[in-house]
Formats: sequence, structure tokens, C-alpha cells
Amino acid sequence: KVNSEIQTDIITLTRYLTETQHALGSTATGDFTLLCHALQFSFKSIAYYIRRATLINLVGLAGSENKTGDEQKKLDVIGNEIFVNSMKSSGKVKVLVSEEEEEALVFQGAGKYAVVCDPIDGSSNLDAGVSVGTIFGIFRLDDDAEGKAEDVLLPGTELVAAGFTMYGASANLVLTMKGGSVNGFTLDNALGEFILTHPNMRMPKSRAIYSVNEGNSRYWDEACKDYFNTIKEKGEKPYSARYIGSMVADAYRTLCYGGIFAYPADKKSPKGKLRILYECAPMAMVMEQGNPPGVLFQKSSTSLHILVMMN
Ligand code: AHG
Ligand code: MN
Ligand code: MN
Ligand code: MN
Repeated sequence: KVNSEIQTDIITLTRYLTETQHALGSTATGDFTLLCHALQFSFKSIAYYIRRATLINLVGLAGSENKTGDEQKKLDVIGNEIFVNSMKSSGKVKVLVSEEEEEALVFQGAGKYAVVCDPIDGSSNLDAGVSVGTIFGIFRLDDDAEGKAEDVLLPGTELVAAGFTMYGASANLVLTMKGGSVNGFTLDNALGEFILTHPNMRMPKSRAIYSVNEGNSRYWDEACKDYFNTIKEKGEKPYSARYIGSMVADAYRTLCYGGIFAYPADKKSPKGKLRILYECAPMAMVMEQGNPPGVLFQKSSTSLHILVMMN
């Protein structure tokens, strides 16, 4: 008897994108689909080099700094190159903003999308083999957009799609499109395909987990100190602490298990450490669209420098 548990009708990311495009009818040109194909290639490629890093001398620092003042790891540089080349060759991207690029990159051609990205999020964790990720956000530019840095000075609510891939025990891609649900795909290394394993992800309504770099607490303002003290000291039992230090991994866990993640602005980073365009906005879109209806979601403080996911 043939094993009936073998799935012969799996939904790959490629299939999901094709079906999504067909559902939109003749208005869809296929450009977004092709852009997503280029994205998924960059994730597979980055996942491959992260797994091989220790073997091929890709650990440690590159010896340079990026524009936000971070020391670049070798994999920050390689991951960025992979991502940039993939976006450029897709022919669908006009403007690309990356954490690891000095300026916005403008590509000539028929591209009508702008992409913002953090090629390797959590790079301080790389050499210890701890989970890291790639974050991306996609804007649809106006047809007459010339292609310049200012084109991406848009609020996060203008994103047409966003997501991330977490490189952990497996590579997990989370994707959401404007007005849609949040879907999770897992890379099957043998097939070389992302498989839909987590359709319609919804953050559980509650879980007593908090995720914040508490080592910064002496730099926090009083309201922030009070808040985290309250969740530890008040209530029936204290929250559990979980902090990986890669936002993608902390956010993925928060999406799967529920709880709170925050990187509050503090005296050391008065504007907040997480960068609004390619870290906070895409992640906020995923969390907002993956939130169960009626649950409080606060994506920013008044200063827009804190990303809080709460249930
Ligand atoms: P990146 O590695 O892309 O520069 O981002 C680092 C960010 C984010 O991933 C993480 O949540 C946070 O910085 C960790 O910062 P601390 O080490 O200060 O906790
Ligand atoms: Mn960095
Ligand atoms: Mn980051
Ligand atoms: Mn980064």
C-alpha cells in the first residue's frame, strides 16, 4: 500500500504566488510575482552562506562600518550583495534601500517597485550560530516616479507587501500583502522550495513573555521602567523573559507564541535603535495583519521609536 501520508499536493511559494496573481485577474501584470521570485532566491542563497559560514571563512568583521554606525560583519556585506544583485537583476525594482548601503540605489529599467531591506538582522549573533534574519518591505511607486531616494520617504502604511525570513533551525519565510493574511513558508533544503507550512498566521491572544534588552534599563525613562517592573512584579505570576537580540527571531517567536517585544528609545539611543524604514515598518505590517481582531496593537510610541507587539 502506498504511504497515504506523503503530501503530493503541496503549496510551494512559487505556486502560492502564481495562484495569488491569477486570483487578481487580468489587472495583475506578474511583475510583483517575479519580484517575489527574486526575493526568494536571495533568501535561499543567504541561508546557504549562513549555514556554511564557519567552513568558508565568513565569520567575523568585514572591517568597515555602515551608515548607521554599525560595524559590518562579513556576512552583512555578502548578504547585502546577494540581495542587491537579486533585486537589480529582477528588472522590477527602481529604488532599493538597504541598511548596508550608503545611499539609496536606483536601477534603470522598467521597475515600478521600491524595496527596503535589512539583509542580515541580528548580525551580532552570527558567529555564535544564533538565529538571524532578512527583513524586507515593498512599495509600489507612482508610474511617473523618476527613481530617487525621496521616493521611499513614505509611511509604513503605504507598504504593499512586507515580511522576513528567519534563518534558524530551518529557514522560515513570513510574507504578507496589503489587506491580506500572514503566511509562513519553510524552506525544504532538498527541494529548494519554500513550502506553505503556516497559513494565515495569527498571534495568540496572550502569553506571558516579554522580550526587551533589559541591560539597557538604566537608560530607560521612568515610564518604561515602570512598565517592565509591572509585568514582573504585579499580576498572578511574572512574565518570562526571552530576548535573542535578533529582532526577526524575537518577532517570529512573538508571532508564534504571543507576548511583547520592544526596543524602547533610551538615553543611549534617544531616537531608538531600530530603524523605521527597513526594520520597524515591515515588521509592524506583519504584526498588524497577523493580529487577531480586537486585540490591542500598538506599533509605536508617540516618538515612533519603539515597536511594541502586545496581546
Ligand atoms: P542589525 O543586526 O540589522 O544591525 O539589527 C540589530 C538590531 C535588532 O536585530 C535587534 O533587535 C537589536 O538590534 C539588538 O540590539 P541590542 O544588541 O542592543 O539588544
Ligand atoms: Mn547592523
Ligand atoms: Mn536589523
Ligand atoms: Mn542588519
